[in-house]
Amino acid sequence: MTKPLKPKITKQSLLNSYRILRFIKPYKWYFISGMICLVISSSMFMIFPAAAGEMANTAIGKGSWKISVKEFGLLFLGILIIQGILSYLRTTFFARVSEMGIADVRKALYEKIITQNMTFYESRRVGELTSRLTADVEQLQNAFSITLAEFIRQIVILIIGVFVLILMMPKLTLIMLGTFPVIVVSSVLFGRYIRGLSRKRQDRLADTNIIVEESLQSFPTMKAFANERFESLRFFNSITSMVEISMNYARMRGLFFIFIITVLFGGLFFILWQGALMVQEDKMAVGDLFSFIVYTGVIGGAIAGIGNLYSTLAGSIGATERIQEILDLDSEVKVEDEAAFEPLNLKGNIQFNDVYFAYPGRPDIEVLKKIQFNIKQGQRIALVGSSGAGKSTIVSLLMRFYQTNSGYITVDQTNIDDFNLTAFRKNIAIVPQEILLFGGTIKENILYGKPNASESEILEAARKSNAIEFIETFPEGFNTVVGERGIKLSGGQRQRIAIARAILRNPSILILDEATSSLDAESERTVQTALDNLMYNRTSIIIAHRLSTIRKVDCIYVLKSGEIAESGTHDELIQKEKGIYKHLINLQLNDE
Ligand SMILES: Nc1ncnc2c1ncn2[C@@H]1O[C@H](COP(=O)(O)OP(=O)(O)O)[C@@H](O)[C@H]1O
Ligand SMILES: [Mg+2]
Repeated sequence: MTKPLKPKITKQSLLNSYRILRFIKPYKWYFISGMICLVISSSMFMIFPAAAGEMANTAIGKGSWKISVKEFGLLFLGILIIQGILSYLRTTFFARVSEMGIADVRKALYEKIITQNMTFYESRRVGELTSRLTADVEQLQNAFSITLAEFIRQIVILIIGVFVLILMMPKLTLIMLGTFPVIVVSSVLFGRYIRGLSRKRQDRLADTNIIVEESLQSFPTMKAFANERFESLRFFNSITSMVEISMNYARMRGLFFIFIITVLFGGLFFILWQGALMVQEDKMAVGDLFSFIVYTGVIGGAIAGIGNLYSTLAGSIGATERIQEILDLDSEVKVEDEAAFEPLNLKGNIQFNDVYFAYPGRPDIEVLKKIQFNIKQGQRIALVGSSGAGKSTIVSLLMRFYQTNSGYITVDQTNIDDFNLTAFRKNIAIVPQEILLFGGTIKENILYGKPNASESEILEAARKSNAIEFIETFPEGFNTVVGERGIKLSGGQRQRIAIARAILRNPSILILDEATSSLDAESERTVQTALDNLMYNRTSIIIAHRLSTIRKVDCIYVLKSGEIAESGTHDELIQKEKGIYKHLINLQLNDE
């Protein structure tokens, strides 16, 4: 059993989801037109029962509408035709609102997600975010296009029906309305409970999707570890618990339905009986009793429908809340940002001033301590140290992936936090150890460094990065498709594409994070010459595993547990008898 949600939260959730209506606002005239069609057609529909009753009265000579039975036929035909036209219009109006409004929601949501910072990304699972964009948005769309309209239609029917009946026969109507509060109160209570279940079910579904996505993403790893059984069990457990929740959900909905139907039919038979007594005493015409019963049936249907729709709507409110929660987050950058297009033209003087840092996800572990160094424009420095020492973290801070806890970083004597983030990052290029290429052509992948580059720039970049060598061996050259559905490139080839990307970008600051660490000696040599081309005249930070590649840099910083333990040129550091660097060099010399 889920605890019923606290009323306070429910109210807040209603307020939260209410705000999603701002996406409908630009299309409000379509929405209003749809609503008008809806109200008119539902109202017209309510003429039927009265007209049918009157027709029966007319047929036995007790009619009061002063039209013949034949004319009744024409009246029905007319109503049917108008109904048809109105329904068509209503559907298209609402489709317009929901399709366009939901497209806007999707765009806004996607934009929000991709403009979040690294911490956001690290704290969520990809599958969870995907299901926000798909499952939750879909549920919202259903609410807008079908459920909401249906809900309003039923309410119109209910109001008009009750109104007509009170005018026609107050006594019977009062008897009928006796059952009304029971149904309303119980449907609200039930609806609240069902909403909790629906939310749980949605979460479980997301969990299941995450498992599928993760195991498919790491398919080779799963194979290598022969963990099919493990993955299958994990999936099976998740599915099983989802089935349990879903069954519970279905049972509750079923109970709800039975409850409503029982109350409804009980009431209906009771009223029928009362009405028959009135006809017997000649207090009412047979046709009127007929109308009354049809109205009561329609009203009853509306009430049952509202109860059902209420729980569906309540489910959509859960989805809306989750969407709204993401829409309310602050972005670290703007997608449309004027300032981002003003080039900063940084020279690349970098200074770290007494920087301390702990990752937001693990605030108690200080990853960097007292980091202090200075790189002049065009210099090359290297960061070395054992794995986990904090080398990558230093460059993450420089790229403003995270905020320092204390101390600050300047580029060209300006605190990097004062730059426009997008404009700032445009001055930096990074070549990491693992390059993930996007599904698409080689050309598109190179263009990622500068989407508006010209043909000749691309060619130049491919030449300088030594990528041209292998690109030309492919029959389709630059148009060769790589990535998930394309040709598989080797590590060294991917690396050269990444270098071509960086060359296109023409950054003033270049970061190589173990760029050649996973390459064999042969490809390392090719990539190294490409890297030398790339580093020429740029401030470069080289994180290297193989110390032979950094002998000529201007300064080497040796990191140990987040602190700079030694610094100096290769020649200086090699002199330190008990130095860490010297020790590392000796280790690697022995290996070779
Ligand atoms: N995103 C992260 N969240 C929390 N801790 C992290 C994160 N990235 C790295 N760390 C931790 O910070 C320390 C330094 O990591 P890192 O800078 O990647 O080391 P290096 O690049 O020198 O191998 C390690 O202890 C690592 O576990
Ligand atoms: Mg690293």
